Amino acid sequence: MSHGDIREKFLKFFEKRGHKIVPSSSLLPTDPSVLFTTAGMQQFKPYYTGQSDPMKDFGSLNTASIQKSMRTSDIDKVGDESHLTFFEMLGNFSFGGYFKKEAIEYAYDFVTKELGLTIDYVSVFGGEEDIPADKESEKIWKSLDRNIDIREMGRSDNFWGPTGKEGPCGPTTEIYVNGVEIWNIVFNEYYCNEDKSLSKLDKPGIDTGMGLERLAMVAQKKGNIFETDLFEPLIQLLPGEMNGHDRIQRIIVDHSRAAAFLISDGVVPSNKEQGYVLRRLLRRVIVHSHNFGLELDAVREIFGTIAGNYGRVYPELDKEKIISEFDKENEKFQKTLKGGLKELGKLNTVDSASAFKLYESFGLPYEVIKEVGGNKAETLTRSGFEQEMKRHREISRAGADKKFGGHGLLMDTGELKAGDEEELKKVTRLHTATHLLHASLRKILDNDVQQQGSDITPERLRFDFTFSRKLTPEELQQVEDMVNDAIKKELPVIKTEMSYKDAIRSGALAFFKQKYPNRVTVYTIGPELVEGQNSSTRTSSEPQPNSSEPPFSRELCGGPHVSNTREIGKFKIIKEEAVSADVRRIRAMVEGI
Ligand code: SER
Repeated sequence: MSHGDIREKFLKFFEKRGHKIVPSSSLLPTDPSVLFTTAGMQQFKPYYTGQSDPMKDFGSLNTASIQKSMRTSDIDKVGDESHLTFFEMLGNFSFGGYFKKEAIEYAYDFVTKELGLTIDYVSVFGGEEDIPADKESEKIWKSLDRNIDIREMGRSDNFWGPTGKEGPCGPTTEIYVNGVEIWNIVFNEYYCNEDKSLSKLDKPGIDTGMGLERLAMVAQKKGNIFETDLFEPLIQLLPGEMNGHDRIQRIIVDHSRAAAFLISDGVVPSNKEQGYVLRRLLRRVIVHSHNFGLELDAVREIFGTIAGNYGRVYPELDKEKIISEFDKENEKFQKTLKGGLKELGKLNTVDSASAFKLYESFGLPYEVIKEVGGNKAETLTRSGFEQEMKRHREISRAGADKKFGGHGLLMDTGELKAGDEEELKKVTRLHTATHLLHASLRKILDNDVQQQGSDITPERLRFDFTFSRKLTPEELQQVEDMVNDAIKKELPVIKTEMSYKDAIRSGALAFFKQKYPNRVTVYTIGPELVEGQNSSTRTSSEPQPNSSEPPFSRELCGGPHVSNTREIGKFKIIKEEAVSADVRRIRAMVEGI
C-alpha cells in the first residue's frame, strides 16, 4: 500500500461518512502565539468554541483533512526511527456532530478493515485530579472487540492540548499498532484557559490525528519511517559515503523536506522566529553535505524530487523558489562555514559561551556545534545556548538604548524610544504614520505584505516588510500619496481594548514575532467621520466614524498614537532598499521633524 493509497483511502472513508474534506492550512498559522501549525485541529479552533459556524463554512458539522504540520520540539530527536520535524497529519473532526461512539468506531473500522492492521492495544484516560476516568470509551472499545487490550493512562499521556496559549483540549484514546502509537483521538470536552484552568465547552467535539509517516511504516511493514516510500526515494539520492550513517541521512532528508515546505509557505532564512528555524534546518543540511562531500547539485536534486513527489498533493511546492533560497543560504553560509569548523576544531571544550560565539561569528547553529563538537560539546545544552543568546540580545538592546539617548529614557517600547516630551511627540506622529504606511503598502502592493520590523527615532521612521522585489518609483509615489491622503482626510485614531481573539476576528493585524497577552490594545485608523446618518442610535452630536466603511488600518499595538491623522503633518518617503531577498525597507519622515 503506497502512501498515496493511504491518503486516498483516508479521505474517501471519511467523505463517505459525511465529512467535508478541507484542504491543509499553511504551516504558518494565523494565531501568532504559536510559530507553526503543529496539528490538524489548529485551523478548526474557532469551530469548537462556537465562534465560527461549521455549517456555514463547510456545510457539515464534520470535517477531515491532511494537514502539513511542523514540530520543532522534536528537532533533537530527528535521526531515530520515528521522529520528524515536518509531517503530514490525517485527521477527522467534529464540532458537535458526533462524539466518542462514532469516533472510536470510525477509527477501529479504518485501521482494522480498510487498512487490515491488527491493533496491539489501546489506551484510555484513567482519570487524574478532578477529571474523571473515561469509562465510556472503555465500554465502546469492548463493544467492538471483547478481547481488546485496554490500558489506562494518566494526564501526561492521555490528555491533549491546547495548541498555543489556550484552546480546546480533553482526554484522549490512542491506538497502538506494532508497538507504535498511530492514532490519537481527542475528546475536546474542555477549553484550557491561559491560567491552565479548565472550562467545560458548550458542545464537546472530536479531534483526531494520525501521522502519515508512521501509518505508512506499519502499513508497509517497515522497521522505521525512513524505509517507507515517503523517504526511500530521497535516501537513494544520498552518496555511498553516507551508507551506515543512518542518523545523518535521516537528518538530511527530514530537514530538506521541512525546509522545502517552509520556503513554499513563504518563510525565508533569517535570525528570527520561523526564519531562524528554516536557517538552522538548511545549515544543518549544508554542514553534513560539506562533511560528506555531497555536491550542491545532489542537494538540489533532493529538493527537486521532494517538489516533484509532493507537487500533486501540495501544488504550492515551488521547486525554483526552494532551490533558489537554498542556494542563497548556502552562499552566505559557505563564507564562514570552513572558518567556523576550524575554530570549533581548535577548542578543547565547547560551553554555552564559546558555542554562542561560534554562532555569532560564523553562523554555526546549535545543532551543528553539538553534533560536530562531539565529546567536546558533551555538556552543551540547548537551554544553556538559548540563555546565552538571550543574554547577548539584552546586552545589545541596552547598548542601542544608550546610543539613542543615554540615561533617563521617557519611553522605550523596542520600536519607540523617546528621551523627553518633545521627542515623544515626534515619535508618536511617526508611529501613527508607520501604521498608515503599513496599510498603504498592503493596499497597493499586496495584501500579504507583512511587517518584519520597525524602528522609530525622533528624526525618521524605518519600516521593514516582506516583499520580494524593488518597488517602482510609481509604486512609491502611490504609497506616499495614499498615506498623505489618509492624513488629509483627518481620520480618527481610536484605541480599544479587547480579547486577543476578538481582535484577530475583527481583522486587526498582529505582528508574528510577538507573544500577545489575553487582552490586547487595538488601534483603528478611520473610516472617515460623518455627520451621523444612524441618528436613531446616536447619543452624541459629534461626528461618528462611518460604520459601513472598513477602517483604513487596524493593528494590535501598544501605542502611543496621535488622536487624529491631521496631527501627523506631510509624509515623505526618503529611501527604499533591500534588507534581504524578500524583505524591503522604507525610511520616511514627516514634515516639521
Ligand atoms: N490534536 C491531536 C494531536 O495533534 C489530535 O489531532 O495529536
